[in-house]
Order: sequence, then structure tokens, then C-alpha cells
Amino acid sequence: MALGLVTAGESHGPALVAIVTGLPAGLELAKHAIDADLRRRQQGYGRSPRQQLESDEVEVLAGLRQGRTLGTPLALVVRNRDHANWTWGMSPWPIEGEPTGKGTKPVSLPRPGHADLAGVLKYGHDDVRDALERASARHTAVHVAAGSVAKALLRALGVDVAGRPVEIGAATTDEGMREATDAARKDRDTLGGVVEVVATGVPPGLGSYAEKRDRLDARVSFALMGIQAVKGVEVGDGFALARRRGTEAHDEIDPGLHRRTNRAGGLEAGVSNGEPIVVRAAMKPLPTLMRPLDSVDLTSGEAAQALVERSDVQAVEALAVVAEAAVAFELARAALEKLGGDSLDDVRAAHRHYLERISTLWQPR
Ligand SMILES: Cc1cc2nc3c(=O)[nH]c(=O)nc-3n(C[C@H](O)[C@H](O)[C@H](O)COP(=O)(O)O)c2cc1C
Repeated sequence: MALGLVTAGESHGPALVAIVTGLPAGLELAKHAIDADLRRRQQGYGRSPRQQLESDEVEVLAGLRQGRTLGTPLALVVRNRDHANWTWGMSPWPIEGEPTGKGTKPVSLPRPGHADLAGVLKYGHDDVRDALERASARHTAVHVAAGSVAKALLRALGVDVAGRPVEIGAATTDEGMREATDAARKDRDTLGGVVEVVATGVPPGLGSYAEKRDRLDARVSFALMGIQAVKGVEVGDGFALARRRGTEAHDEIDPGLHRRTNRAGGLEAGVSNGEPIVVRAAMKPLPTLMRPLDSVDLTSGEAAQALVERSDVQAVEALAVVAEAAVAFELARAALEKLGGDSLDDVRAAHRHYLERISTLWQPR
């Protein structure tokens, strides 16, 4: 069975849920490792006080026994601690009596750059909150939890995946990134940026050139583009390759079958080539603004300013963690397609056998 992921959960609802299917039995998971990734997602210089409020923690409801996967669906839950302030407004069931707390007044001021307007039109909601609660990036928390599980599987195969911010606004140094964030905060504005994810230890041969949907470059790009606020994806040198000549764009093969450069980002013809996989994602500036943009009040039809809701100045460091999780999940899926078995021992044996078969030609560096 292919590795699969389905998630549910609203930003201020009781909890976020993820169900991961297709994991082999016998994979050891550590709660502290998943929680550490959840914490990484919440940290970052440009985040709002909501992040301190949440301090996410994973709960497992199924598929795990004594820290080892059972080969059955793994059910992960991350509670929204902030739900305590929204128990009436985000209650799954109608509550009798006076509305109290947050989310009790319908939102009618759609924010440009969010799902607000399209969501209301698409589903016929009469409260913008019905759209924004799910469209929010809050549920990236359970994607990170699922990514953490994928990373545990990949680690068992010697693969490491790491994401980091490489640009915030136009800044590329740590200090510059902080300064840019401070300046945007002072101006009550927001920033975007670029993150990079690198996967090392990926053997050659994951993915396929046979069909478009099987290409690993396409799948990793899809995984990244599916994250909120991502507007561009690059594999290897990406767009810069378009401006070079062929002699300066490809990666020559040395006598050990390794590459002298890695401009392709470890992916050729949709297949991993044994070099580190390098992908980047561009994030637009966050669309909830403290200096709101022009919008329309959907109740009156009058010109108005968009909703102002507590929001981050930038979430590029958080995106790096979310992107790392997305890439890890896709690589784990591709690894299981090639090496899959019902137990981790089967997967490991297939991995060993494969590396042995190609070892006369190619060996890890
Ligand atoms: C980790 C992460 C955190 C985000 N935090 C915010 C935020 O605080 N405020 C905001 O307006 N948008 C935030 N976003 C972006 C919006 O969720 C996103 O722009 C919006 O849902 C519209 O989707 P689109 O940008 O993909 O078109 C965040 C995105 C990510 C990946």
C-alpha cells in the first residue's frame, strides 16, 4: 500500500488530525522527536504570540504500540490549545444560550491574498470564518508531525532531510533577515522569502521517468506547491539554468559515477541520481495585514478594509520546517514504492539488496 496522508482540522477548532497509511510495521518513533519538529515550526523571529500560546504536542490514537508502528493506519492528533477561547465560536455542535468568546460574530471583510472571498463564493458560506479556518496554515502542524514520521523512516535508510530559510524579504544573512523582519514589523507590514530543503543519502533510482505523475521532481514540487503561500518551486539551479549554456548547466559524471557539480539538484528525468536532492520554495508575503488592504463588506456591499486578525510578520522559518516535512513525506513515499515491504526489516533488506546490486557501478560517497 502506498504511503498516504489525510488531514482534518480547523485553525481554532478542537484539534488537528492526520492519518498516515502505508507505513511498515516495526518503525520506532519517539514522541520527543515529533514534538521537537512541532516546536521548530512554531519558532522563528517573525511569528505572532499565537505560537507561544500553542506549544504543540503530538498525541497518537492508533497504529503505534510501545513506540513501534503496527503497520496499520497511524492516527496523529495535535490539539489547538487556543480552542479554549473559541469553544462557542468553533463548537462542532450548536450550543444553547448566549454566545461567548471568540468567533461568535460572522466575518464579512474578506482579505486579499486569502481563501476568504473564493471560499465564501465556492461553498455558499455566510461567514468568511467558515472558509478561513481550514484554509489557514495552522494545519501544517499535523503535516509536520506526519513529516517527522517520514523522517524516522528515511533515517532508517540513511536519508537525512533538512530545511532552512535562505531569503527573508530580500535579505540573505541571519542579521539581515532579522533587520528586515524588524523593519516590516515596525511598518506593520509582512514579508515573504525563500526556503531550501536538502535531502542527503537518497540512493539513485527513486521516482521514475515513465509517467509524468511518477516523476520525483514533479512530486516533490507538488508537495511544496501544496503548502500555503508557496508561489514558486525550483529544483536544483531551477530558473537560473534557463539563462546558462548547456556546458554550464549540467553535472559531469566522474569515474566513480558521482557528479562534479549538483546543478540538477539530485534529480534527472524525474529520478534521483544519488546526489543530494536540493529544492527551493518561494513564499509570498503573508496576506493578513495590520495595515489592511481595500476590500468590500460582503453584508453591505460597501467598500471597506479587510479583516485584521492576529498574524505573523513573516513565517519563512516555519515554512522551512513545513517544506522539510513535505519533501520528507514524498521521499518516504518514493522510497517505499521502490523498497516497500510490510515490516521495516523487509524495507531495510530490500535497500541493502539494491545498494549491493548497483555497488559494482555506484557506491555512496
Ligand atoms: C507556516 C505558515 C504560516 C503562515 N502564517 C500566516 C499568518 O500568520 N498570516 C497570514 O495571513 N498568512 C499566513 N500564512 C499564509 C496563508 O495561509 C496563505 O497565504 C493563505 O492561506 C492563502 O493561500 P495561498 O497563499 O497559497 O494562495 C502562513 C503560511 C505558512 C506556510
